[in-house]
Amino acid sequence: MTDLAAYVAGLPKAELHLHIEGSLEPEQMFEFARRNRVAIPFDSVEAVRAAYDFSNLQDFLDIYYAGADVLRTEADFHDLAVAYFRRAAADGVRHAEIFFDPQTHTDRGLPFGVAADGLLSGMKAAEAELGVTSRLILCFLRHLDEDAAFDTLRAAEPWLDRIVGVGLDSSEVGHPPSKFRRVFERAGEMGLKRVAHAGEEGPPEYVQEALDLLHIDRMDHGNRSMEDERLIERLADERMTLTVCPLSNLKLCVVKDLKYHPVPEMLRRGLHVTLNSDDPAYFGGYVNDNYVRLAEAVGLTREQLTQLARNSFEGSFLSDGEKAARISEVDAYART
Ligand code: ADE
Ligand code: ZN
Repeated sequence: MTDLAAYVAGLPKAELHLHIEGSLEPEQMFEFARRNRVAIPFDSVEAVRAAYDFSNLQDFLDIYYAGADVLRTEADFHDLAVAYFRRAAADGVRHAEIFFDPQTHTDRGLPFGVAADGLLSGMKAAEAELGVTSRLILCFLRHLDEDAAFDTLRAAEPWLDRIVGVGLDSSEVGHPPSKFRRVFERAGEMGLKRVAHAGEEGPPEYVQEALDLLHIDRMDHGNRSMEDERLIERLADERMTLTVCPLSNLKLCVVKDLKYHPVPEMLRRGLHVTLNSDDPAYFGGYVNDNYVRLAEAVGLTREQLTQLARNSFEGSFLSDGEKAARISEVDAYART
């Protein structure tokens, strides 16, 4: 292990952009397919991995939604969550705020609670086993309409004391934040936090809409904000946390090469950046791989890596007291 990788490995961190369905490793896909007697169009784990060659977000989403079909029972969601938290804990993750896509499952006929209860019990078991705390965020699929998002919010009602917020994901271009203005307004009235994917493939105008119309507390990706000077200044002034995902951006061709990744420029411009894995089973690495591969490609310093870890707790939905405690752990580590 290089010095850089060793430093990152021990650095306490939070993960704020992780789709739990995107942590489904090919080996688990086979295991769930076997136990649920679901056919999958692959002969081997290697064949699955070979299919993970994407030219854009939609290419990935098509295969990702197909993969999620092996998830059928509460136990599947429980096991999926526990497996993610074990890998995350091994990467020094102390806190994770994980997304799930209820509509991917309810549209296949699963009741809302199969995914929600399975994930919540997995999160609880992981906290007991590993000491990793977590929160759950429900994402609306933006390729579906706003009425479907309202139906999902209604179906979620019995669970909303255990769900910290709502998010917006799936195919970005052609599905601007404005399409979901009313459902985000309702979620805000219900006391839920609000986040949204914006500026991954979509233009800076979508980032603007996410701020102005969805009143987001945190932005997922945000890369294309860098095309608009006024937007950069606004994000810096508002101390908006961006949950950036370098290996995802590489795999989905949002950047041509990690050496052109916007994180150094984002930091230089005072943006509140965090590093995350997005869909690690599909993009070739968990959170530490994202820190290390980006750092090697663009030359991040230890101080910058430490700042990214501090930002991850600061940008979380933990209480101020919990944030301060986690940040002092980061600072103590950095002094050693
Ligand atoms: N769903 C899972 N990963 C996603 C991503 N990177 N962008 C949009 N929707 C997603
Ligand atoms: Zn994402």
